[in-house]
Amino acid sequence: MPEVLSVTNLETKFYTDTDIINAVNGVSFHVDEGETLGIVGESGCGKSVSVLSILRLIAMPPGRIESGEAVFQGKDLLKMTPEEIRQVRGCQIGMVFQDPMTSLNPVLNIETQVAESVLIHKHVTKKQARERVIELLTHVGIPSPEKRLADYPHQFSGGMRQRVMIAMALACNPPLLIADEPTTALDVTIQAQFVELVKHLRDEFKMAIIWITHDLGVIAGIAQRVVVMYAGFIVEHAPVKELYANPQHPYTRGLLGSLPRIDEQGIHRLVNIKGFPPDMCQPVRGCPFVPRCPYAFDHCRAENPPLMPIADSHTSACWWDIDLGKPRG
Ligand SMILES: Nc1ncnc2c1ncn2[C@@H]1O[C@H](COP(=O)(O)OP(=O)(O)OP(=O)(O)O)[C@@H](O)[C@H]1O
Ligand SMILES: [Mg+2]
Repeated sequence: MPEVLSVTNLETKFYTDTDIINAVNGVSFHVDEGETLGIVGESGCGKSVSVLSILRLIAMPPGRIESGEAVFQGKDLLKMTPEEIRQVRGCQIGMVFQDPMTSLNPVLNIETQVAESVLIHKHVTKKQARERVIELLTHVGIPSPEKRLADYPHQFSGGMRQRVMIAMALACNPPLLIADEPTTALDVTIQAQFVELVKHLRDEFKMAIIWITHDLGVIAGIAQRVVVMYAGFIVEHAPVKELYANPQHPYTRGLLGSLPRIDEQGIHRLVNIKGFPPDMCQPVRGCPFVPRCPYAFDHCRAENPPLMPIADSHTSACWWDIDLGKPRG
C-alpha cells in the first residue's frame, strides 16, 4: 500500500522562561493508505506534540520544530507556506480531538458548523450544503439527522458530539484522519461503538488513520501497527499482534502488564510500572527509562539505545534482550 504520511527525525522543543522542554526527540514513523497506526504512551510522552507539529499547530513561541520531515502525499508539511498548510488541514487531513466541546462552537447549531466544513472546500449552494450535511451525519450514525440540524452542541450526548466531529473531519474525504484520544471522555460502551464506526469509515473511504491513546486495549481493536512512545522517543514499533505476543521493550511490557487481564480468578490489574516518567527538561544521557527499568545495566546508563531490529517490521530501543536474558547483540 502506498504511504500517505512519512515522518522522519521529528524534533520539537518548547522554550519557556526557565526551561527547554525536549518534547519530541527524533521521531520517525509512517502510515499507509487504509491503515491505522496507533501511538501509545503515558501522559506527557509527546504523542500530541508529535501530531500537532506535523499539522503545524504548535504555538511558536514557545514551541519550535527543530528538525525533521513530514512528507504527506509527496510534499513536506514542515516546509509548506501557512496558506498551503491551512489547505491541507482544512481538507486533506481530518482531525478529531479528545473534547468535542472545546472544538465545537457552543453558540452555532450543528448544521451551521458541519456546513462550514463543507463550504470551505466546495462552491455549493446552501441547499446542496444541507444535503451534504445530512449525508455526513447519516454516515456517522446520528439518528434522524434532518431533525437535529437546528440543535446546538449541548443538546447532543458526548458520543454524539464526537460523531459530529468525525462528520466535520470527513467533509471532503480526507486521505488521512488524525484522532487524538478521541474516546477518552466517553464511557466504555459508547467508546466501543465509536471505534467500530471509525473502522467502518476507514474501510469505506480507504482512509489512513493515526490513533493516539494511552489505552492499549483500544489500540488492539483498531490499529495494524503501533508505536510506543516514552519521554519523547519511540521505544518500540511493531505490528499490533506482534507487539502483544512478543513485547520487547521493558516499558511496553509494563504498559501491557497494567492492562486488566481476565483469567480463572477473575479480573486482575497486573503490575503497574513503578515511578514516573523523566523530567523532559533534562538533557538525556543514556536510556530515559533507566530509573524505572528492572533490567538496566551499565550500557543503558551510558548510551541511549536506538531502535534495533527484532523481527520483521519490529524494532525496539533496548540494550537488553529480554528473551535471552542477556545484553543484545
Ligand atoms: N505549549 C506548551 N508549552 C510548554 N510545554 C508544552 C506545551 N505543549 C506541550 N508541552 C510539553 O511537551 C511534552 C509532551 O506533551 P504532549 O502533550 O505531547 O503529551 P501527550 O503524550 O500527548 O500526553 P497526554 O496523554 O497527557 O495527552 C510535555 O512535557 C508537555 O508538558
Ligand atoms: Mg496528548
